[in-house]
Amino acid sequence: MTRPTYVYDLAALAAHAAAVRAALPERVELLYAVKANPDPGILRTLAEAVHGFEAASRGELDHLATVLPGRRPAAFAGPGKTDADLGAALRAQVGRVHVESTTELGRLAAQARAAGRTVDVLLRVNLPVATPGASLVMGGRASPFGMDPREAIRLADDPPAGIRIRGVHAHLASGLDAVVAASVARGVAQWAVRHLRAEEVNVGGGMSVNYADPDRRFDWHRYGRLLGEVLAEHPTIRLRIEPGRALAVYCGSYLTEVVDVKRSHGQWFVIVAGGTHHLRTPAAKGHSQPFVVVPRGGDGPRTDGGPVTVVGQLCTPKDVLAHTADGPAIAVGDVLVFAMAGAYAWNISHRDFLLHDPPDFRTGDPLLHARRWGR
Ligand SMILES: Cc1ncc(COP(=O)(O)O)c(C=O)c1O
Repeated sequence: MTRPTYVYDLAALAAHAAAVRAALPERVELLYAVKANPDPGILRTLAEAVHGFEAASRGELDHLATVLPGRRPAAFAGPGKTDADLGAALRAQVGRVHVESTTELGRLAAQARAAGRTVDVLLRVNLPVATPGASLVMGGRASPFGMDPREAIRLADDPPAGIRIRGVHAHLASGLDAVVAASVARGVAQWAVRHLRAEEVNVGGGMSVNYADPDRRFDWHRYGRLLGEVLAEHPTIRLRIEPGRALAVYCGSYLTEVVDVKRSHGQWFVIVAGGTHHLRTPAAKGHSQPFVVVPRGGDGPRTDGGPVTVVGQLCTPKDVLAHTADGPAIAVGDVLVFAMAGAYAWNISHRDFLLHDPPDFRTGDPLLHARRWGR
């Protein structure tokens, strides 16, 4: 049996990233949040289209240095940075360190002075800006991310030696549509200019993707136009965004073969090779991962209408990849092609649970791979 396989369509990714970049005003810099998917092929493909990369751990800094040697990470972020993390950021000469607290700024300043350097910093501020419709809220209320506005103002008024505060970073939520994301950007920029006299404002990622309706994509053109208005209101600032999911999600597919089909208490279950230990996204987000069936003409057992639950090989009822109300018939041996598996998929999966084989990785068109499955 062919192993479950991730297929990354890098040509589609390149086209998508170029279109996103083209939709943004010139004064908006596009960073890629590496945490969404650090696959080397994805990083090399995006390197052509984005202005830079946001790393959120020492591991991501090391990985970027290996995959894209000579390219300095644009930003280093993440809560709970240790001395070792901050030292690695200094050695990697990251463009901006996104500082999360007064303690962290003190640690960074000490290292900067010891190295005889001045480090460019954005303060991550937890601003009370509304994020209606968000799927995951990380700020605008009590949260471990960033610092309270008053603390940021105090630090900006009297920064420690070794630190140059350039502006503000705010990543407040995920799953924002274009209008909400732009109004968040407007609110953050207004605060940053007014209270910190910021030169730079990074408004984070969190652009929405819709797993229930893959064709309903974030409206980058509208967002670009609205960011243009924000820039017109603040002619001196530079804006940055750092999406992950909305850049990478569409380029990845997870292909796997149906091992068994059974009926239990009146309901169909389709059991595939692999499961959520390869593709954790549906378990993490509680959704049904969209998929198509590539039939392989087998004459084994098959579903015959009605609701179907697609599960993997783990010994837990949580190992559910998808539900369909009344999908196509699915037979043992068919290949299921799960779409939207290019972000927060393999890299967030609990891959050692049950010690099943890992998936394979390929590039190209996922449907071509599915049709040539096993050959
Ligand atoms: C600080 C920061 N920036 C960017 C991102 C990327 O978010 P998304 O993948 O939703 O665009 C995240 C995700 O958690 C984040 O925490």
